[in-house]
Amino acid sequence: MTNKDNKDMYSFNIDKFYQNYLTGPKLFKKREALEPTFIPDELPHRDSEIEKIAGITACALKGDVPPNFLCYGMTGTGKTATVRYISQKLAQHCSNNPPWWVYINCTVVSTPYRILAHIYNTIIGKEKIPATGLPKDIILKKLLGLLDQLIKNSVCFLVLDEIDILIEKNGGNEILYNLTRLNENLDFCRTSVIGISNKLKFMEYLDARVTSNLEEEEPIVFHPYDANQLADILKQRSEIAFNEGVIDNGVVKLCAGLAAKEHGDARKALQLLRKAGELAEKNQNKKIMESHVIKAQKDIDKDHIVEYILSMPLQAQLTLTAIYLLSKFAKEHVITSGDIYEVHSEFSNKIPGLKQLTRRRISDYINELTLSGLISANTRSLGHYGRTKIIKLDIEVGLVQRVLSQIKKIHNYKLLDYKPIVLQTDKVKLKNIVFRRLI
Ligand SMILES: Nc1ncnc2c1ncn2[C@@H]1O[C@H](COP(=O)(O)OP(=O)(O)OP(=O)(O)O)[C@@H](O)[C@H]1O
Ligand SMILES: [Mg+2]
Repeated sequence: MTNKDNKDMYSFNIDKFYQNYLTGPKLFKKREALEPTFIPDELPHRDSEIEKIAGITACALKGDVPPNFLCYGMTGTGKTATVRYISQKLAQHCSNNPPWWVYINCTVVSTPYRILAHIYNTIIGKEKIPATGLPKDIILKKLLGLLDQLIKNSVCFLVLDEIDILIEKNGGNEILYNLTRLNENLDFCRTSVIGISNKLKFMEYLDARVTSNLEEEEPIVFHPYDANQLADILKQRSEIAFNEGVIDNGVVKLCAGLAAKEHGDARKALQLLRKAGELAEKNQNKKIMESHVIKAQKDIDKDHIVEYILSMPLQAQLTLTAIYLLSKFAKEHVITSGDIYEVHSEFSNKIPGLKQLTRRRISDYINELTLSGLISANTRSLGHYGRTKIIKLDIEVGLVQRVLSQIKKIHNYKLLDYKPIVLQTDKVKLKNIVFRRLI
């Protein structure tokens, strides 16, 4: 057996790991209470939003039609949770003829056709309308028939979560117009649309006639939570999720404080607590400590970076690749936007069909990468070279390498092993020696 085999064999023993896991300290009582989809029995610090929505929707208890309305607020401020909570409460207080709820997540179901099909299929309880194929006006007619026939004199709430996604797509205004005017073509059933969005400006892109249909009531605004409010939310959830006494003092406060810094996002706070719990569990620790939260925060940041880089356009990914190569092959090299432009131009000779970018476009991508926190760019006066942007990677080189290697074009053309020609030219080498002295 070689050394390598030896090392692999002893580096991780899955059987031992599972055995220890099973016999180790039991931290979680109900893990799913920390999942984003879990709706607790109470939603602390959302009283005023709940009161307003309860006021708007109460008439559904008597079979009347609530007006259409919108809920706005930054991510993780409890919009979806509050609307789902209201739906449960309304059902509890409505013994006969309870309202129907169709929940549509527009990031998942986003075309007008699929929205109509989803509403129809949800109401009838099976996949009656195929994923494609029928003309939209036919489905709309079928849907109107079904609403009157099945829901009869009751109210049907149509919740369009992440409604802003629709506006970016073709036909978004039209489907919203149709959904907010269904009642004009219904004989018995009545519908009410609740739109939810975390893009505060999306209304600017709506047709005026849709806006007036959706804003029959003042929009309900969800404000970000502060650190104390987040701590209350976490306390309530941790009592459901964890066994007694397994959370060290200060853990909840730390999670709340970290999430409060990121615009008061309750999802983020819960995610931190869950990850910290999982780390403690994996390490067989009896308690969740602040150190687990700090490690959890680092892991989450990494996940975000990976997701962000993978979702960037290819040209931005290549701009980042150029910066990565300059940092990798010449550690002392002072990276300027001019260097990045040169390396990117070399890429366009390597990748068939890749458009060579102008200095201006490269500069735009550098600005975007700076804004996202992946790199920093400081403008410095460099003697007779004038004012120049000095660029630095702000994230770990190894992480950048791991993410970029997942991008097909970058992997296929072996860009990560490519040593830029520009680094080998004497002119650039000399210029860089001067730069290093000047900064
Ligand atoms: N007041 C609250 N009490 C208890 N849990 C809450 C509260 N507000 C939010 N949460 C929890 O935080 C998480 C995120 O909330 P929610 O999904 O409702 O956010 P959102 O405003 O819809 O965000 P997004 O715009 O990103 O969809 C969920 O797990 C939710 O249960
Ligand atoms: Mg939501």
